[in-house]
Amino acid sequence: MSLLSHLSEIAGQVFADLGFDPELGETVPSQRPELAQFQINGAMAAGKSANRAPRELAQEVADHLSGHPDLARVEVAGPGFINITLTDQAIARIAAAEAGDPYLGFPVTNTPENVVVDYAGPNVAKAMHVGHLRATIIGDSLARLFAFAGHKVIRDPHFGDWGFQMGLLIAALADEQPQLPYFDPDADEFPAESPVTLDDLQRIYPEAATRARNDADFADAARSATVRLQQGDPGYLALWGHMKAVSEQSQRRDFAALGVNFDLWYGESDVHDRLGPLVSALRESGVAEESHGALVVRVAEETDNREIPPLIVESSSGGFLYSTTDMATVQMRVDELRADLVLYVVDRRQADHFVQIFRAARRAGFVPEGTRLEHIWFGTMNGPDGKPFKTREGGVVRLADVIDMLTGAARRRLDEAHLAEEYPEEERAHIAEMVGIAALKFGDLINNRTSDYIFDLDRFSSFEGKTGPYLQYAAVRIKSILRRASEAGLTPGPLQPPTVENERDLMLELLRLPEVVGRAIDLRSPNHIAEYAFEVAGRFNRFYDTCHILSETDETRRGSWLTLSTWALSVLERLLDLLGIEVPDRM
Ligand code: ARG
Repeated sequence: MSLLSHLSEIAGQVFADLGFDPELGETVPSQRPELAQFQINGAMAAGKSANRAPRELAQEVADHLSGHPDLARVEVAGPGFINITLTDQAIARIAAAEAGDPYLGFPVTNTPENVVVDYAGPNVAKAMHVGHLRATIIGDSLARLFAFAGHKVIRDPHFGDWGFQMGLLIAALADEQPQLPYFDPDADEFPAESPVTLDDLQRIYPEAATRARNDADFADAARSATVRLQQGDPGYLALWGHMKAVSEQSQRRDFAALGVNFDLWYGESDVHDRLGPLVSALRESGVAEESHGALVVRVAEETDNREIPPLIVESSSGGFLYSTTDMATVQMRVDELRADLVLYVVDRRQADHFVQIFRAARRAGFVPEGTRLEHIWFGTMNGPDGKPFKTREGGVVRLADVIDMLTGAARRRLDEAHLAEEYPEEERAHIAEMVGIAALKFGDLINNRTSDYIFDLDRFSSFEGKTGPYLQYAAVRIKSILRRASEAGLTPGPLQPPTVENERDLMLELLRLPEVVGRAIDLRSPNHIAEYAFEVAGRFNRFYDTCHILSETDETRRGSWLTLSTWALSVLERLLDLLGIEVPDRM
């Protein structure tokens, strides 16, 4: 049980004995750490409900509490706060239980849910942009958090591979290379080699997108190509298969570099078989209606404070759209994956789209009451100029280039700090990669999910301040202390009651893990983990400055400090893991 739950239970019992709701015993960290470690605020509400002076009631609760053997001090302050401080024996006892627990005291759920995390979302042929990068980093961290809490997590990137962009590519290629067999209506065999490379696709796509905006005939051709593909034209399907494979290959490489993996490598096309039946059912049930030749579901509600346009499920040319595949994907996730919760980790700009999808799916009746669909949106990663991060030429930044940039910066930083200096080149390169990825992920995750932030290569890659490299280094340093201790034959022993302030503070800090992880999950906000990791590292450093573990001669004390250090390392490594950050063995 976490420390706060333990304290809340003790105080709750007192409130219950006095005839109040035990919930009023909720105990939280003190607002004024110089006065006490924890506080209970329930006496104010209790006083109000019982028509009694809150301070007097607080005193009564405090009198009952002060006999508890775990509490060193119980005091009433202000209008009726109850301040409490634990005995050092109680801290050590609870610490020993949490330090030895594989979940570090976190109460793993006993009602696991199926949680689908829809994140990353790159598109075939379009380079991943910074929105995809944020979605990947945040989504991956949320997936790790839910898995840690004991849920069954299903990671699904939802590749964009079935919409208009495919029609654009096919139409452009048909113009450029009409002799290809894919465009011959009589052909029934197609080459195994792809007619296009990734570079081709990345050149063709932006050209085609621009052209479609200015050339109505070309846009029409792209729309009919989309419909023909979706209707299963064999040549188009064969060509589509090549384009998808070529893109996916490079995306797999990028994700591997980021340390991100998916349970399902599904895309929009994977729900293709559901699209026709879904649209017919919507039409027949009257949920969808004709509008200007298209089929739409009206989802506006009276209480809306902005206009929510109808959701188009079939275009006037008979094509299925991004919305149609998303509707069918909700259905698939409910039917096949038995989803209890679906988190859509996608850019803020798609807020209306998800309002439409969630409402339409509920209206269509295929989302069970208890199933929650949530749009987990985020702000923009901006460049140094405060505008969405672009290359100097104004193009989208390729993920692979971002990673190269960071690895390069990490290398320079390692050199500057004389770290990993005489290591074999291979190990150095690997460390630089880990540091670069840590810089990128932490630089993102330390921000409140919904805020915009500025990508600052220099700041992110620094070994000082709130950065990924600083935290990696902090963890590596604890590893090296433990290694030196073990080389000197020093062994960890049972945790002792703390005797020094920095030691006590570190224990109390580590005991916060369950509460912080719980908050990050409840708010779907990994930044709480990032902040906390920084606090833990700072507390450990202060502890190590005052408690000279390796030269301590009292064996019991030294043993306890080694155990405390091991625990601090487990907490720090776990937090970094929840952020998707790896820790090198040494550096
Ligand atoms: N491919 C989409 C894009 O680039 C993101 C997909 C998000 N997920 C979803 N279920 N719509 O904008």
